[in-house]
Amino acid sequence: MRIAFLDSGIGGLTVLRQALTVLPADQFVYYADTLNAPYGVKPKTEVFAHVLAAADFLASLQIDALVLACNTATAVAVQTLREHYPFPVIGMEPAIKPALMQGTGKVMVFATSLTLRESKLETLISNLGQGHRVECRALDRLVPFAEAFDFTSRAVSDYLADRLADIRWSEYESAVLGCTHFLFYRDLIQECTGPDIRLIDGNQGTVNQLARVLEPLRTQAAAPVHDAAPRVTFYASGHKETPARVERMLALLSAP
Ligand code: DGL
Repeated sequence: MRIAFLDSGIGGLTVLRQALTVLPADQFVYYADTLNAPYGVKPKTEVFAHVLAAADFLASLQIDALVLACNTATAVAVQTLREHYPFPVIGMEPAIKPALMQGTGKVMVFATSLTLRESKLETLISNLGQGHRVECRALDRLVPFAEAFDFTSRAVSDYLADRLADIRWSEYESAVLGCTHFLFYRDLIQECTGPDIRLIDGNQGTVNQLARVLEPLRTQAAAPVHDAAPRVTFYASGHKETPARVERMLALLSAP
């Protein structure tokens, strides 16, 4: 089957990386909306229009399913996309539920400003009935850092140290990485939180959900394909990605 992954940039690669393992016989299209990234600091209506345009492009490629590998895009557009297209649309939301279920302490949610502003998140938190255990913080600048393939510089660690300086981690049990770009900074974030905080993300859950949704749609079992390169076609805002960027993205997909 052909499955499309959509993100504002390279964040969704952290989800695709897991999908390549769980779904060894499928082909993937990866769409980074680089012309319009970052999404998280833009108005909702603008991001909504960008996601719809990207999804229309992907729909024209005869895809069997679309994964919004982006919490921000999901927050603003998943409902509309599900009503609009004949193929399944799998979204992502910050993994607050699993974080709350794993303990009784407080949970810090990291996401983009737009995700945190959206009513979808508010509804999720209030439906869980544990709002008093949840705090949220935006880490928007991690997205442009990642888009510049800057994962380790002093500027990144200074930004994180500054944004997280006032958090008393002794009051918390876990932190949710509620933006797919943030997974590139797992180690740096863990340095700030200290080793006792569990970092939780929704990537595996999303890929498991994708596999479940695809299962009844399969007509025959295909043979596994072993090389990541021919299995993924990369697009940047409606155009083929450049070979140089594809090379960097493939390196991220095969990183441990
Ligand atoms: N990767 C996206 C997410 O999961 C957002 C990045 C952006 O701000 O563009 O929320």
